[in-house]
Amino acid sequence: MPHTPVWFMRQAGRSLPEYRKLREGVAMLEACMRPDLVVEITLQPVRRYGVDAAIFFSDIVVPLKAVGVDLDIVPGVGPVVASPVASPADVAAIPDLTPDHVGFVTESVGELVAELGATPLIGFAGAPFTVASYLVEGGPSKDHAKTKAMMFGDPDLWSALMSKIAAISAAYLEVQVAAGASAVQLFDSWAGALTPSDYERFVLPYSATVLERVSALGVPRIHFGVGTGELLTLMGAAGADVVGVDWRVPLDEGVRRAGGRAVQGNLDPATVFAPTDVMLGHAADVLARAADAPGHIFNLGHGVLPSTDPDQLARLTDFVHEQTRH
Ligand code: CP3
Repeated sequence: MPHTPVWFMRQAGRSLPEYRKLREGVAMLEACMRPDLVVEITLQPVRRYGVDAAIFFSDIVVPLKAVGVDLDIVPGVGPVVASPVASPADVAAIPDLTPDHVGFVTESVGELVAELGATPLIGFAGAPFTVASYLVEGGPSKDHAKTKAMMFGDPDLWSALMSKIAAISAAYLEVQVAAGASAVQLFDSWAGALTPSDYERFVLPYSATVLERVSALGVPRIHFGVGTGELLTLMGAAGADVVGVDWRVPLDEGVRRAGGRAVQGNLDPATVFAPTDVMLGHAADVLARAADAPGHIFNLGHGVLPSTDPDQLARLTDFVHEQTRH
């Protein structure tokens, strides 16, 4: 690539008026399961911003829904699970994922890669800890108290649940790559709630299982979490090719912690609300701090905020391309 590649987490979605129009009267999960909508929503930000990759429009709970877990994505709330997981029987009741469960994904990815041509499609899955939190809490949680109660108090049940989710996430990524995705991102958005030693013991082995299974497919693997400054070295060691860094860690420090791996990030998503020249100044700082990285994918430090002005992201994309052209 002639410049540093750019894409934005949550680039598809609520910040785009064309997305909101398509979603009128269509529930989130329905949108994720209809190939015509998945294809169009995934392409919208590529057209508008000229980003260097598309991210598959889906959600981390879609594979759970596909195998039969009773859940919904509630507007303004997030994933809500009807019967939270609390026992070995609850874990055993969750089926493993086979490609037949997600035929709509194979179909959507196939159409997308044909439409995208040379622009790569990034597939994704939720990492076991973040998905476990939704399953155990029954919905979004700030403190992950029930999840940690299971993790600390019933390690056998925890291990069974994490193994089950790891198998589902790996199978979900395999389907996306088999259908044509050319990179994958494992989202462990809530891993920042853990201490390094708890992460290493209770989470890393399962995320490593997912990343290891994907390594056989030969596509780059990005491993991302929020508030994970103290975990970056471990997240790299879990088997990432690229370590996603949130905005709280200066990127040059993130590069050191990533242990010789490429990094992705990490402009504060709120800087887009500042005047353009101020936002671009912050972006220039991110680029400068990435100068010694073995590789850099420019991104925000977390997802695009819903009230973001799309024109700011277009200007940001152009700026990174111009500044890094070689
Ligand atoms: O990045 C993209 O453009 C691809 C689409 C994508 C979505 N969810 C679509 C979505 C991706 C990569 C995800 C991953 C996801 N989902 C994560 C990991 C990434 C992260 O942000 O940390 C997590 C934790 C979830 C769970 C989830 N789903 C949350 C927290 C929410 C937001 C709740 C809200 O409404 O505030 C969702 C719903 C969701 N997923 C939306 C979109 C576009 C909004 C639904 C809508 O438009 O009604």
